[in-house]
Amino acid sequence: MHKKREHWATRAGFLLATAGSAIGLGSLWRFPYMAGENGGGYFVLLFIGFTFLIGLPVFMAELTMGRRSQRGPVLAFTELAKNSHIWRLVGWLAVITTFVILSYYLVISGWSLNYAFMSLNQFYKGKSYDEIVQVFDIVYKSPQMNVFWLFIFMIMTGGIVFGGVRKGIEKWSRILMPALFIILVGLFINSMTLSGAGQAFKFIFSPRGSALSATTVLNALGMAFFALSVGLGVLITYGSYMHSNDDIPKTALIIALLDISVSLLAALMIFPIIFTYGFQPQEGVGLIFKVLPVLFAQMPGALLISTVFFLLIVFTALTSTISLLEVLVATSMETFNWTRKKSAILASCAVFIFALPSALSGAGKFFPLWEKVYGKNFFETFDYLTGSWFLPLSGILTAVFVGWAISPEMRKKEFIEGSKYKWVYVPWLLILKYIAPLAIVLIILNKSNLVNIDAFFCRN
Ligand code: PHE
Repeated sequence: MHKKREHWATRAGFLLATAGSAIGLGSLWRFPYMAGENGGGYFVLLFIGFTFLIGLPVFMAELTMGRRSQRGPVLAFTELAKNSHIWRLVGWLAVITTFVILSYYLVISGWSLNYAFMSLNQFYKGKSYDEIVQVFDIVYKSPQMNVFWLFIFMIMTGGIVFGGVRKGIEKWSRILMPALFIILVGLFINSMTLSGAGQAFKFIFSPRGSALSATTVLNALGMAFFALSVGLGVLITYGSYMHSNDDIPKTALIIALLDISVSLLAALMIFPIIFTYGFQPQEGVGLIFKVLPVLFAQMPGALLISTVFFLLIVFTALTSTISLLEVLVATSMETFNWTRKKSAILASCAVFIFALPSALSGAGKFFPLWEKVYGKNFFETFDYLTGSWFLPLSGILTAVFVGWAISPEMRKKEFIEGSKYKWVYVPWLLILKYIAPLAIVLIILNKSNLVNIDAFFCRN
């Protein structure tokens, strides 16, 4: 017999919690830095295209799986495929990817918390631009600071998940998501008044031939999945707390639109600062932490703006870390029959331990040779591996699973249940069955140099 499953208290609560999972450091931290490193233009347009064409259908597929099975990813894949052991492995792939992403995501969340506290002391005051930028290097290289803030963030996330889905996740998302939106729009308007705004627009939206490569395409696909929280079982888990009268296509579309808006707002807020003050778009993982304080330092009310901004980043990060930890907790509750409390404690400890090498990456303390061998430090390696490889892989498998492996009647019934947009079913299925798998396979093959799509398109 199943234990009775908790469900979202209200429809708005579900929407906000899912939006809270989607919107987070992916949009505010990862998207701007990836856009910078991948040369803007094509990367951004591909990101938008992939979000709607592939990310969104897989998003709906995950919600459908979750609501149908009332399970977390491992059991959802297993039971919907009539106890197939192979599909069970795919469920585990999603869970492992979640575990790894959560581990380094917590480290960046910890930086945000650290910056919120430093903002209270106006750490940028009286410093030159260069000195403000260097604060990030100090933070990045300090083992104590990284481990301390990681620990605090883990406790916050663990505490909320420990309290349960409704009380914890839903309540916080209701308050914090709207607040974030307002401050983002304010900062975006402010950035539009800077002299570098025009150049920023050009960088972000104008595609230039040189920047298009298989790597850019794969990175954009991974980024679209990352920003939507697709490919990790998060949406399967959240879908399992949905009611049968919730509208799957509508929810998914609203969230994709919100997610894209926040990502673009973040980029349009940051790149004008970069061009106005002469920074490089390729600053890498520290981009927002280095660049934003330079702007804050010159604004009236800097203390308030900078503190509130970093606090809001903390909160959006928190609504995402909660969703990631919830996957691990739901999975251990179901597979090992543990209680929620025991699962939350053990999962938090395991994630914390695995996060330590990422937290110590900047200091070069753990695996000091890692960077020499792999060309990226521990933290960057895992960001790249999971963000650009595991996510597309697990996304394609989810598309294939829902497109081909589960019962068609059940799929259709579950998808259209509670929805006013029943016509979406046919195009959705076409994408899941053919377009998404094909696109993802081509991109992965191209990236691994087995076929060369670039050469095909770029022949002179
Ligand atoms: N989508 C979240 C973000 O943009 C990150 C995330 C990925 C959260 C996958 C959950 C699952 O920050």
